[in-house]
Amino acid sequence: MNDLFARHRQVLPDWLALYYDEPLEITHGEGRHVWDADGNRYLDFFGGILTTMTAHALPEVTKAVSEQAGRIIHSSTLYLNRPMVELAERIAQLSGIPDARVFFTTSGTEANDTALLLATTYRRTNTILAMRNSYHGRSFSSVGITGNKGWSPTSLSPLQTLYVHGGVRTRGPFAELNDRDFIAACVDDLRDLLGHTRAPAALIAEPIQGVGGFTSPPDGLYAAFREVLQEQGILWIADEVQTGWGRTGEHFWGWQAHGQSGPPDILTFAKGIGNGSAIGGVVARAEIMNCLDSNSISTFGGTQITMAAGLANLSYLLEHDLQGNARRVGGLLIERLRAVAAQLPGVREVRGRGLMIGIELVKPGTDEADPKSASAVLEAAREAGLLIGKGGGHNTSALRIAPPLSLTVAEAEEGAAILEQALRSAY
Ligand SMILES: Cc1ncc(COP(=O)(O)O)c(C=O)c1O
Repeated sequence: MNDLFARHRQVLPDWLALYYDEPLEITHGEGRHVWDADGNRYLDFFGGILTTMTAHALPEVTKAVSEQAGRIIHSSTLYLNRPMVELAERIAQLSGIPDARVFFTTSGTEANDTALLLATTYRRTNTILAMRNSYHGRSFSSVGITGNKGWSPTSLSPLQTLYVHGGVRTRGPFAELNDRDFIAACVDDLRDLLGHTRAPAALIAEPIQGVGGFTSPPDGLYAAFREVLQEQGILWIADEVQTGWGRTGEHFWGWQAHGQSGPPDILTFAKGIGNGSAIGGVVARAEIMNCLDSNSISTFGGTQITMAAGLANLSYLLEHDLQGNARRVGGLLIERLRAVAAQLPGVREVRGRGLMIGIELVKPGTDEADPKSASAVLEAAREAGLLIGKGGGHNTSALRIAPPLSLTVAEAEEGAAILEQALRSAY
């Protein structure tokens, strides 16, 4: 194990951060559990960064992948590809976008890159609006729209990006306002910003900020933004890489919490749909998707083996109503965690919805981020057999909880009890 850590350090980049003082090698999983190389079992409340969406080693997905591998793994987009067409049809229909076209990529980053290429080409400008505290990927263009300095290693960019306020409800200049006034203040700020610039191509936003620590605006903010954007033909891109597929419980897509003025113009997805197979993608109205006037392919995007995984995974999700499960079990979990938090002065906020729950930690008696305690809770939870994540623009002091959507009530209770102990040990 330590030998593997040393080899990792020797050959992989320093900026590829690992969790835990003694990093973990996960060797296998089943359902909501994973095992490490020493045979220890963990309840998995992070799913490889919200990516194991249904369950580990789900037999339906394993079967579909192995059967597809026995036929053909890849043929490229130069040939007709039945699983790709089938998955595109299903996602187009689920997206809520009229006359939708779907393009498959291999990651969320590449999906957002594609969305930026489409929006800037369609609108003939490279100005983009993004949210403060956002994260949209690791490529040169996507770090240029990332409003979280911990994840944005360069200020050089092919885009001119203006950062809008509103993605973080409980910090910043409007934090003390009620929801209605908060939305009104953000809209006024957006109008003011637009008054000082040439009309941008698009606003890109995560309905709930993932890496940013599961922060979100009040419901309806993006609908209110949309009305202003539409006055100038500015597009709305919803980055659903973390919030899609029912994870938020109440909605299938995160944008639906802001759906009063209809679906976004462009939607991007990745992570959960493949249950670990490399699928990302972008959905847009035909007139936007088809605005490119030269060829564009992603060699691995939509390859048969990943599409087989996506189809089997999506079918399982829908047939077992995992969105409903996320709403029910996530609702219990968040209530339980709020009850625990009420007794702990270091917990500033328990937030989120469905099975996307953030716990922000501060130094007791202050509003100051407490990344040390966040790391300590992560370690203590691991010691007791629970894997969780971390995030947050305020010095990584939010714990992130995002188990597979098939989580049972008993597992939620077990995980909550471990988290309670881990939090108590830190404060
Ligand atoms: C909201 C969001 N968008 C985009 C990405 C980038 O996806 P990927 O890591 O698959 O490139 C991430 C990754 O965490 C994300 O959380």
